[in-house]
Amino acid sequence: MATTEQTTPTPDALQPGTTVHVGTDTAREWWRDAVIYQVYPRSFADGNGDGIGDIPGITARLDHLKTLGIDAVWLSPFYRSPQNDAGYDVADYRDVDPLFGTLADFDEMLAGAHARGMRVIVDLVPNHTSDQHAWFQEALAAAPGSPERARYIFRDGRGPDGTEPPNNWHSIFGGPAWTRLAPSSTADGDAYDEPSPQWYLHLFDSTQPDLDWNRPEVRSEFEDVLRFWLDKGVDGFRVDVAHGMVKADGLPDWHGHVSMVDGGTADEESDPGAPEDGSTGAGNSGPMFDQDGVHEIYRDWHRVLAEYDGDRCLVAEAWVEPLSRLARYVRPDEMHQAFNFSFLTTGWDAAALRRVIAASYRANDEVGAPTTWVLSNHDVVRHVTRLGLPDPGVRPNGVFATDPQPDEELGLRRGRAATALMLGLPGSAYLYQGEELGLPEHTTMPNDVRQDPAHFRTQGAEAGRDGCRVPLPWSADEPGLGFGPTGRTWLPQPESYARYAADVQAGVEGSTLELYRSALAVRQAERLGFGALSWLAGWEDSADVVAFRNGDVVVVANLGAEPVEVPANVPGAGELMLASGPLAPALDEGTVVVPADTTVWLRA
Ligand code: NOJ
Ligand code: CA
Repeated sequence: MATTEQTTPTPDALQPGTTVHVGTDTAREWWRDAVIYQVYPRSFADGNGDGIGDIPGITARLDHLKTLGIDAVWLSPFYRSPQNDAGYDVADYRDVDPLFGTLADFDEMLAGAHARGMRVIVDLVPNHTSDQHAWFQEALAAAPGSPERARYIFRDGRGPDGTEPPNNWHSIFGGPAWTRLAPSSTADGDAYDEPSPQWYLHLFDSTQPDLDWNRPEVRSEFEDVLRFWLDKGVDGFRVDVAHGMVKADGLPDWHGHVSMVDGGTADEESDPGAPEDGSTGAGNSGPMFDQDGVHEIYRDWHRVLAEYDGDRCLVAEAWVEPLSRLARYVRPDEMHQAFNFSFLTTGWDAAALRRVIAASYRANDEVGAPTTWVLSNHDVVRHVTRLGLPDPGVRPNGVFATDPQPDEELGLRRGRAATALMLGLPGSAYLYQGEELGLPEHTTMPNDVRQDPAHFRTQGAEAGRDGCRVPLPWSADEPGLGFGPTGRTWLPQPESYARYAADVQAGVEGSTLELYRSALAVRQAERLGFGALSWLAGWEDSADVVAFRNGDVVVVANLGAEPVEVPANVPGAGELMLASGPLAPALDEGTVVVPADTTVWLRA
């Protein structure tokens, strides 16, 4: 048996070691241990055959989610939108875009989810609107200095003729964060025949103008939007760019750079953070992010949600580090959860994972919030692909066909092991549609079909996020792999997707779909989401193994290249509850051999 010296356990290896997190009360709010599945509506299932997923498509597939065993669904935006950023550019916050259906379709979907015991969280995009939103159109038609302009961040340009932007900020999608108004858009009394001196701020695309959250009118409007969806019965909101809504006074110049997927690099003055705090470089910094003023907004929203029954919740999309800073968003009177991007951006490294896990509990336990876990979403390269790249720690914004290609088999093995590790952790976990199929990123997508504005605004330097947004394969033998009734798909599916189709995995032992179903069932039965976590004695410093005890379950993840033998030295050890991949035969009775890139759950 090949075991490395470093990972050979001591005789009491399965005894609890350092306690990292004490268990929490199982009778508390539903979201504390929830597994929440992200539906990206345009790529989940197409009901009407136009090649774009829609709400009736989701309703028709609710049983897939039910049998998967998730607790709640989070829907990315389906509101009225010109779709310049796939719906994160909202033109009307109180209506469904005709592309996705109608408000009645939404009600039906919500009722269907509730009838199956699943909750529904919707996406709220408060940092910016679409340029097609009535407010922005009114702002363009109004004069500089008007109340209509004041809802957004308009400033005069710098330089003698206002030809320079008001400050040096860059858009997260690339290019400048300011756009100067064209002469035609400044009908403020006398028409300009010269360009206007006025520019507007957009941290993302130029069609996504940032709102000014200092304005009471902006605040009351969004409280009203919250109530609109709460009254419909939604169970919570995922809050987009939750760390960006308030900008530093005076909008000072900044010399750092921000990036969509990894936070970018801070300027020289900022502290990159000691690894012990779990930081991975996932935090956006600069005068446009994580300003103290944002917390006042969330205290207001907390009060709005508290007026409703059913433990409605707010989850922050905030690329903030260190984790102690992120935890400020989930103080008892603010939001309820925040995505743990420090975990997502930790590579395939046992010591780094232990550090980020410990730091996550330290920070969240301090404020009484559940720690959350996530490996994939619609903005990052899918985790089975990241973990199959030559360096699994890199965080590219998409993969080009001309880039070094991932090792698909290795990535899938590691991806399954990473998921089994994540779902064994106390707290709440987020899954991204398709990961239950082991779906890889589309890494050979032709550039001429790409749609992500980040690809265009970086002049093609970044592939962008289309590769993780490809329509799901439901049936291997149908056109478009069963995405919809006509075979049309808004992005092409790679050939390999037929192998991953849901219908070829359902009921097949060892498939990724059955692994997810089993993991979620055991997690639920054992109440792992509420458990306590302690590192297993003897493994705390292992270079290759992350091993912990959560209640009555022991989780051993072997990230190394050699198999590791787990001894049967506690009562019940050897009862295998879950394995992310095939196991090698054990040499001694009662022991379990965990192969490379594999995670097991054992009855402790
Ligand atoms: C974060 C969202 O997840 C991403 O998809 C979007 O492009 C930006 N926020 C801008 O809304
Ligand atoms: Ca459709």
